[in-house]
Amino acid sequence: MAYYVTTPIYYVNAEPHLGHAYTTIAADVLARHMRQRGEEVFFLTGTDEHGEPVAQAAERQGVSPRELADRNSERFRELARAVGATNDFFIRTTDAPHEHKVQELVQRIYDNGYVYRGSYEGWYCPRCADFKTASELAEGNRCPIHLVELEREREENWFFRLSAFQEPLEKLFRERPDFVKPEAKYNEARAFIEQGLQDLSLSRARLTWGVPVPWDPTQVIYVWVDALFNYYTALTYARPGEDLARTFWPPTVHLIAKDILKFHAVIWPALLLAAGLELPRRIFTHGYLLMDEHKMSKSLGNVIDPFQVIDTFGSDALRFYLLREVTFGQDGSISPEGFETRYTTELANELGNLASRTIAMVERYRAGRVPAGSVERGLTESFANLPETVARRLDDIDVSGALDEIWRRVKLLNRYVQDRRPWELAKQGNDGALDDVLYGLVDGLRVVAILAAPYLPDASARLLRALASENDGLAEAKLGAGAAGRSVASVGQLFPRVAGAPAG
Ligand code: MSP
Repeated sequence: MAYYVTTPIYYVNAEPHLGHAYTTIAADVLARHMRQRGEEVFFLTGTDEHGEPVAQAAERQGVSPRELADRNSERFRELARAVGATNDFFIRTTDAPHEHKVQELVQRIYDNGYVYRGSYEGWYCPRCADFKTASELAEGNRCPIHLVELEREREENWFFRLSAFQEPLEKLFRERPDFVKPEAKYNEARAFIEQGLQDLSLSRARLTWGVPVPWDPTQVIYVWVDALFNYYTALTYARPGEDLARTFWPPTVHLIAKDILKFHAVIWPALLLAAGLELPRRIFTHGYLLMDEHKMSKSLGNVIDPFQVIDTFGSDALRFYLLREVTFGQDGSISPEGFETRYTTELANELGNLASRTIAMVERYRAGRVPAGSVERGLTESFANLPETVARRLDDIDVSGALDEIWRRVKLLNRYVQDRRPWELAKQGNDGALDDVLYGLVDGLRVVAILAAPYLPDASARLLRALASENDGLAEAKLGAGAAGRSVASVGQLFPRVAGAPAG
């Protein structure tokens, strides 16, 4: 089955921060997991480069929009690399083939009769590049997201007949309760539609930094229309000479945060219907990373620099922390203290020490060879159907829930060592029991390493290598399936103590 997962394409008016890393990491976990299942995967991320916010930021910095876009797009590309993202393509909306394809699609919408000329007046937020309805405004006519005071603006431009999709969108939401997840966001989008849809301006007159409207080059295509279509255009040119849309359209899941729910859950399906394209299967809205109760965002200045965290602790640690600390789909607070605690107790102790102790015991008691043993019943039962459970969670985009399933087994293996005390079995010369315990531990670690590989790609690969078990397909993640007789190798410290981290 083809699996197509996307992140939002990020604005290049500012540098990347941890919030962007969060979505990219979650998408990467899904992509890696699906590859483990043998699915054909396409994972897309990239940058959204046109529009007023970028033009304004460039002007403030005294550079051209193009220069600013080039510079910051590269930073987002570096971020994707730094977090270990295995995206199959990185789209920039300034790519010429994207621009051409957007023009083609907008022309198609025009030809299908969904565009007309009109004028618009409303509360405009230049940071969102969007008009706000009166009910959305924060106190003092402010943008509810950026808290800047808004002005009323009036423009002559081309309109998209969003209102023509009132019925089809209501039907869509009625028939596909899974279209938007979690449920609260589905309800929110549905309520928004049921309030009655208003037409949307499809172009901007005051702006030159954008894709020209094909039949009226005095205007540029509204940046959100340009941006949303990236999910489609990318497939048409990511592999020269190949139309990947045949394989990967429609998308399996768009990951977004709630700030852009309306665009994805309402405007996007309407645009696709207007262009005669199939709708995505699901839009999953995760929560905000909060610091001190506020959404982390560049404009509020409360950001953690992901590059710094990765430099010090490695990308696995960052991936793990974000997906472990915050329930996927809900807002959650993060902090440097919380990070260090999880790093020390869970990664360094629960997984790192378990791995090094287990391997050391196999070396000491069994000359480094995994003994043949049978897994004890208690362990077998706790690991039963684990790969299926993890897969089911990730099919539901429960990225933190799947990790929780995995981590419960890591904790369980730690308890198992404490309960069975292999060092005492060795002292007593109880060889049969010792073989069983060591085999169970090694194989439990192997299973956990496979299942955790999408979250902790580097550490899992090192651990699997140390266990002489490099096959990491999901089908291998069955306790008791690992071969005996393999020679283990020292794994060192998977998660070394870092100066600045509290001792645990
Ligand atoms: N360019 C638009 C998206 C166009 S998609 C066709 C945009 N860009 S953005 O740079 O503002 O990125 C917004 C996205 O970044 C959010 O939807 C979310 O995925 C991620 N996040 C940004 N800040 C975040 C948090 N504080 N917490 C969680 N996610 C965050 O909107």
